[in-house]
Amino acid sequence: MEKSVDELEKDQRELIHVLHDVQEEFGYIPAQAISQISKQLKISESEIFGVLTFYKAFSLKPRGEHLITICVGTACHVRGAPMILDEFERKLGIKAGETSEDNQFTLETVNCVGACALGPIAIADGEYHGQLKTRKVDKIIDKLMSTKRNGSD
Ligand code: FES
Repeated sequence: MEKSVDELEKDQRELIHVLHDVQEEFGYIPAQAISQISKQLKISESEIFGVLTFYKAFSLKPRGEHLITICVGTACHVRGAPMILDEFERKLGIKAGETSEDNQFTLETVNCVGACALGPIAIADGEYHGQLKTRKVDKIIDKLMSTKRNGSD
């Protein structure tokens, strides 16, 4: 029997909740976890992949200790996001989508975080840095390097 819209929404809420827990525990969603979740929640793996690719918050690859996300949406782009991204790439020695060899940093891009008036924006371990200038990039990286993600310095 087909599931009702309410049931589908409930399934998806439960799925997102479980994915959040897994990501919290491992820092990403391991392939093994996807097949387990699929069996437990009776949701196909392709459906789970659909959710994982839709929500940028989930990662299928291990991330570094610190996550830096640069908004490259249109509003941020015209306000200089490409230069900000270049600067982070140069300073960290990695490209967007990569994790540094020492597993300290992962650099990602996103297409709008809903705060366009503050562009260009970088989000460093959850902290928003708006109206960002390239000269501030060093400071952001230094601050991250001096903090542990779990809050214990
Ligand atoms: S385009 Fe960057 S916040 Fe909207």
